[in-house]
Amino acid sequence: MPVSSSLTAARPLPVFTGFSPCGPPSRVPTWAFQGTGNFSLANIEIFLQFAIFRGMTAEELYKRLSSIQPGAVLCTYSMEKCEQMLPLINEINELKKERDAVILAHSYVAPEIILGVADYDGDSFKLSQDATKVSAKTIVFSAVRFMGETAKILNPTKDVLIPGPLTGCSLADSITGAEVKALREKYPDHTFVCYINTTADVKANCDVCVTSSNVMKIVSSLENDKIVFVPDGLMGQNLIDEMKKRGIKKEIVLHSGCCYVHETYDSELINFFRSQNPGLKVVSHPECHPGVALLSDYVGSTGQMVNYIKEQPEGTPFLLLTECGLNARMQYEFPNKTFIGSCSMCKYMKSNSLENILETLRHPEKAQHVELDESVRVAAKKCIDAMFYYAAK
Ligand code: 13P
Ligand code: SF4
Repeated sequence: MPVSSSLTAARPLPVFTGFSPCGPPSRVPTWAFQGTGNFSLANIEIFLQFAIFRGMTAEELYKRLSSIQPGAVLCTYSMEKCEQMLPLINEINELKKERDAVILAHSYVAPEIILGVADYDGDSFKLSQDATKVSAKTIVFSAVRFMGETAKILNPTKDVLIPGPLTGCSLADSITGAEVKALREKYPDHTFVCYINTTADVKANCDVCVTSSNVMKIVSSLENDKIVFVPDGLMGQNLIDEMKKRGIKKEIVLHSGCCYVHETYDSELINFFRSQNPGLKVVSHPECHPGVALLSDYVGSTGQMVNYIKEQPEGTPFLLLTECGLNARMQYEFPNKTFIGSCSMCKYMKSNSLENILETLRHPEKAQHVELDESVRVAAKKCIDAMFYYAAK
């Protein structure tokens, strides 16, 4: 990717080769208006119907609705909240110097982490490149475990720490190294490609790793036309669709993993927001359902989305179909653009906080240190190095 999709072209969903993908998108995704709130469209519709039925006045309606805080507590900022966060930010920055540590933060973590304490931020490909440049003794990876593992694979002598208590990822948790081994027996002639959202053990059993920013480039440049792609079935289907469009012929076997955050979006939602917002640009992540990618103006990794948004004229309204952290970030980085939002939140990414980063720097617990078996690390590094090789081609 990036993948630009036609706005109007209607086409049937392509048939999967191999395993069954995630189920159909949910009908009523959680949604927000002009922010990052946690209330659902369906609830508001029910409430408005109720209000009309009761003959309510606008004042009464306002009284009921005015307490809603778009963004819920996680992404809403008051002066008081900023005053409370500042001592934590200052202490973390002091401790980083004392402990010779740097903080890498994914775009989905809370904005105060990115703005206040991160030394490197961005999408998973950029962060994996950043991880190779670090000279500090300790890396605190404010994201999820597979990203911390990637940093450890590339920096075996450094102490890599993960601060959040929920370190999983619905994609990384959807397949094990042993399952990949079994697949290799079934598909002995195939090249095994894994998304970076996988454990070190899965990478150790695959040939080449990809991220959402380079999956299209890497898979299309592989010499072998027989590919097994794990674990994201939706991204894999988007890949198959895009290759078909570009006339690239490869047989791609998919696994059934999916991201519980991106899977919630569907085409009805896009149609609804387009009808309400003339000139709306829909920007989605390739982990979304193919029906969503088809209707999007732009499909790309979180870093690519940022670049696309940057290039669009001021005043453009955007609907971002990805984790809401990116939406919050775009709101402060581009105050002259309008972000209709999304409030699909990744509980794993959002389990990172200033408090647990501070605690990790003060007294890291055993489970927060990323430890890898050396033979797994070496094999996984080959898979990541292959990604760097093909991405640079
Ligand atoms: P990026 O590669 O865009 O950073 O995505 C990582 C991820 O976890 C998306 O859900
Ligand atoms: Fe994993 Fe989805 Fe969270 Fe990304 S947003 S870390 S793919 S669960």
